[in-house]
Amino acid sequence: MTGISIAIDGPAGTGKSTVAREVARRLRLAYFDTGATYRVGTLWCMREGVDLSNESDVAAMVETMNVALVLDPRNPRVILEGEDVSSLIRADSIALTVSKVATNLEARAALGQWQRDVIASELEGGYSEGRGVVTEGRDITTVIAPDADVRILMTADEEVRVARRAGEGADVATVREAVLGRDRKDATVVEFHTAADGVVTLDTTDLTIEEAVDAVLTLVAAAREDE
Ligand code: DC
Repeated sequence: MTGISIAIDGPAGTGKSTVAREVARRLRLAYFDTGATYRVGTLWCMREGVDLSNESDVAAMVETMNVALVLDPRNPRVILEGEDVSSLIRADSIALTVSKVATNLEARAALGQWQRDVIASELEGGYSEGRGVVTEGRDITTVIAPDADVRILMTADEEVRVARRAGEGADVATVREAVLGRDRKDATVVEFHTAADGVVTLDTTDLTIEEAVDAVLTLVAAAREDE
């Protein structure tokens, strides 16, 4: 028997990361934030002085970077060359630049292969000891794990998404540009606003985190019954 694969996509501010992490914690699964792979790739290129507009140089860098991921949902970590960069990859400098890597198709292919390998290893062993993995991103339900047991697209009204992010600190105008501007750039290479066939849309506009977690757990229970 292999573990369960749960794929959650959606734009920023839908509650995707919080919900994915909490579902993984409750079900004792691994939590895999694929956005972190793009972010650490960006940090690595910046540190090494690679021109981010040079697509093949960037792709070669992310293909060979030395990164370890800790998939514990209670404390997920990203280790680059032995250094814990989990906080650093959340910096504004990375958030503002990461789309250059995310829109680089060669880099996407390299990071995508790594992501598939991580998921496959969690379904057989890894951190979760084969119980499975909750993977979140933009193209997980469609490109990376289209055969996942549960596939969810989380959405929410634009203004609600902006307000949620603004509630985390910065001023509304900056956040609006950061959230919607980045979505616009990323949406040029991946579709994450409309659900593909077989993907369940979960609109979190009027849901609390707890309600969104419950909705995902209900879908997981239904998928397990279908087995
Ligand atoms: O979810 P996040 O903000 O950490 O994602 C960082 C960037 O990576 C963002 O620009 C979207 C992109 N991304 C992607 O293109 N595909 C994924 N599966 C995950 C993230």
